[in-house]
This record gives sequence, C-alpha cells and structure tokens, in this order.
Amino acid sequence: MKRMRLDRFFSSQEILSRKEVRSAIKQKRITVNGSPAQKVDMSIDAEVDIICLDGRAIHYEPFIYLMLNKPQGVVSATEDRSHMTVLDLVPPDLFRSDLFPAGRLDKDTTGFVLLTNDGDFSHHILAPDTHIEKRYEVIVDGTLSTEEENLIRKGVTLADGYTCRPCGLMLINAGQTPSYEVILHEGKYHQIKRMFGTVGKGVLALKRTQIGGLVLDPSLPEGACRKIMHKEIDLILCNS
Ligand code: URA
Repeated sequence: MKRMRLDRFFSSQEILSRKEVRSAIKQKRITVNGSPAQKVDMSIDAEVDIICLDGRAIHYEPFIYLMLNKPQGVVSATEDRSHMTVLDLVPPDLFRSDLFPAGRLDKDTTGFVLLTNDGDFSHHILAPDTHIEKRYEVIVDGTLSTEEENLIRKGVTLADGYTCRPCGLMLINAGQTPSYEVILHEGKYHQIKRMFGTVGKGVLALKRTQIGGLVLDPSLPEGACRKIMHKEIDLILCNS
C-alpha cells in the first residue's frame, strides 16, 4: 500500500510535473482504474490502482538502479562546477533528479558505476561489513614479484596507517605493463593506486568490472547507461 496524491505519483516518476498533471486531467488523458481522473490531489494507491496516461498504464517504480560505464574525465558526483558528472551521462528517459552514485570512482578510473535513488540499498552495498566485492582491472607500470603480490593479498598498510583487508590479486596479462585483476571488499580513497604504491608500482589504468556478482555489461559502450533488472539486483547482493 502506497497512498499518495495523483500529481505526486506522476512527479515522483518524473513523467509529468504537477502543473502538467492539471492540464492532462483537463484533457482527460489520465484515468484511475478506468475512470477519468478529476482532481490533482485525489488520493491513489500507487501499488494497487491502475493509473493510465493516454491509455498506457504507468508502473510505479519507487527506486531505480542504473549501470553506467564511466569514461575517464567524468566525476562521481551529483554536481561539479568544472567537470562532467556521472549524472550528466544519464539519458532523459532514465533520469531522476534524486539519483546519486552508490560509491565513487576516481576521475581517471573507468567502468561500472551504480546509480540509484535508493539510499538504503546504497548504504548496504557500501557498508564494509556487508563484504560486497568489487572487481577491477589494473594496468601497472611493472611486474610485481611473488613476494609483493602476497603482501598486497594479505593487506598492505597505507601511508596514512590504514591496513587494508585481504584482497584478491591475479595476473591476467604479463608484459612490461602487466594487468592484474584486483578484488576488494572495501573502498578507501584511491585504494588500489595507494596499494600498488606501497610496492613502488604506478597504476596506468584502472577499470571497475564488477560489483558483487554483477559484471559490467560488455555491450555497454563507455559513457552509456542502462537499467539494472530486478534479477541483476539479486546478483549484486549474492556475494555478500
Ligand atoms: N581504487 C582507486 O585507486 N581508484 C578508484 O577509482 C577505485 C579504486
């Protein structure tokens, strides 16, 4: 049961503004359970009543979850004076004014950013004790020795005294600038760059490829964004 005013129903879904609801009612474009709506403030149950606009039923979605493939140069913030933000990349049909990134990537990091307006969900996936893993591909300016790899896996102590939790580390491409997969269960500021820094290595490129059990959609080009389906939400939570 989710009771609200009819105009609030449309504005919360960002389909019509409250003013537009008034004129849509006058034009008989809105029906509630088959009868033309009469008043902007009529009380409806968003989860039970059938609300149609121009004959099409509107399904109430209190929360939205989006997968964004973040390009370099875009900041993980809701607003910024001088840089493009992750919200600037959301197309109008998916945009909600209450969206925010659930977890940040550095400006030069690419890959999976989850955008949502669900504060509880965001809090849950970011909480360190939930242990939701995040996977990254990291290109480094030199190969780590076995000893250095094991140090990182066990949890290095960063310059500010913080000791990282144990993490996953695997070489995926050898060479002068090798790439590694890193699996973190936490998210400290510049964590991967600082972790590699402790063994004297610089990070040349960093991409987040997975959150929980949900892999960044390989068909999603950089800068593009799509809805995350309900069963995919379960995947995010499945490795907590
Ligand atoms: N670690 C970093 O150093 N940067 C990121 O953006 C994410 C993890």
